Amino acid sequence: MSAVVSVRGLVKRFGKVLAVDEVSFEIAEREFFSLLGPSGCGKTTTLRCVAGLETADAGTIEIGGRVVYRTAEPLDVPPNERGIGMVFQSYAVWPHMSVFDNVAYPLKVRRTPRTQIAARVAHVLRILGMEGLEQRRPSQLSGGQQQRVALGRALALEPSVLLLDEPLSNLDAKLREQMRAELKLIQRESGLPILYVTHDQVEALAMSDRIAVMCAGRVHQLAPPEAIYRRPATAFVLDFIGGVNYLPCQILSAGNDAVTLRWRGEGTIILERPSYVPDGREVLLAMRPEDLRLVAPDSDGALRGRVVLRSFYGAGFEYRIRLGETELRVATGKDLDLREGSAVGIVVAGGLLLDPDAPSRPEARAC
Ligand SMILES: Nc1ncnc2c1ncn2[C@@H]1O[C@H](COP(=O)(O)OP(=O)(O)OP(=O)(O)O)[C@@H](O)[C@H]1O
Ligand SMILES: [Mg+2]
Repeated sequence: MSAVVSVRGLVKRFGKVLAVDEVSFEIAEREFFSLLGPSGCGKTTTLRCVAGLETADAGTIEIGGRVVYRTAEPLDVPPNERGIGMVFQSYAVWPHMSVFDNVAYPLKVRRTPRTQIAARVAHVLRILGMEGLEQRRPSQLSGGQQQRVALGRALALEPSVLLLDEPLSNLDAKLREQMRAELKLIQRESGLPILYVTHDQVEALAMSDRIAVMCAGRVHQLAPPEAIYRRPATAFVLDFIGGVNYLPCQILSAGNDAVTLRWRGEGTIILERPSYVPDGREVLLAMRPEDLRLVAPDSDGALRGRVVLRSFYGAGFEYRIRLGETELRVATGKDLDLREGSAVGIVVAGGLLLDPDAPSRPEARAC
């Protein structure tokens, strides 16, 4: 499949700050592609370079098969000629214009004939599920509807890619969740590839076909959401994406198919086909909350801990279990209702092995 956007070796400095450090990715047709990472990791700068609002120091950017930026020549196509639509976090819709006029505005600026404008706006508003609201002013719309008007304006010029920078962060939690699904449906309907910027892991995991996880200007991993979650490439990705428990363990035996571990000489933890096995005997076992199962305290091979906190979250419970100096977070269904203070057995059903000091290494956490 041909790439709609291709970014290769992108570098951008602001004085001494290396905001984007050799970033490369491609976005395929109809793909929802996200840049995800903590504040300051270079997401917005990357997006602005793609849009042409920022001039990169090195690299090549192609949009729709055309080179729009190349350091060597130098070649730098202005933003309005790159075939992009953009919506930012602080999206602004014009308050004095109707929904129709807001969406029609970019077409009017381009001197598109009136009948074509009407047809295009109708098409965009149908995709956005806003038929019948053409004559309303933004003040007569909900936050989510205003957001859709901003999207409509970006869609009006039939861009080859939509660039979105945290477009949902101004909405309250419930609306944000709703708009996540709507945006995904709008994308399916319009078939437009999206380059989406967010620092919200849940949002990126839920919406994206692929995610580039960034830290300090670099891409740590570029993969579909499930791979990012289940097979993180670096300790940083593991720590940044979703909950994680760490337990220092010792390797008892390591075969081709499985590694057997103990925690302080207790329990039997068997990991099947781990993707990485550190050299030494001392390792750090990293586990998602759903990798742990709670069983009766005297169960064979189980670790013995104590429930310190029980939190109900609708679909089930989250327990905090004390194990020596460590506290583990365990997610369970609603059938397992344990009292705080009770003894409990813990069985490890999956996890990743890391070098013993992995999550405390500077590159693992600090960005
Ligand atoms: N115009 C600028 N002048 C100087 N430094 C800048 C400028 N824009 C960004 N930076 C710096 O570049 C780095 C990357 O910033 P960027 O805005 O791309 O981060 P981000 O990942 O979008 O963060 P956030 O999630 O907070 O929006 C930061 O260290 C930031 O301070
Ligand atoms: Mg940003």
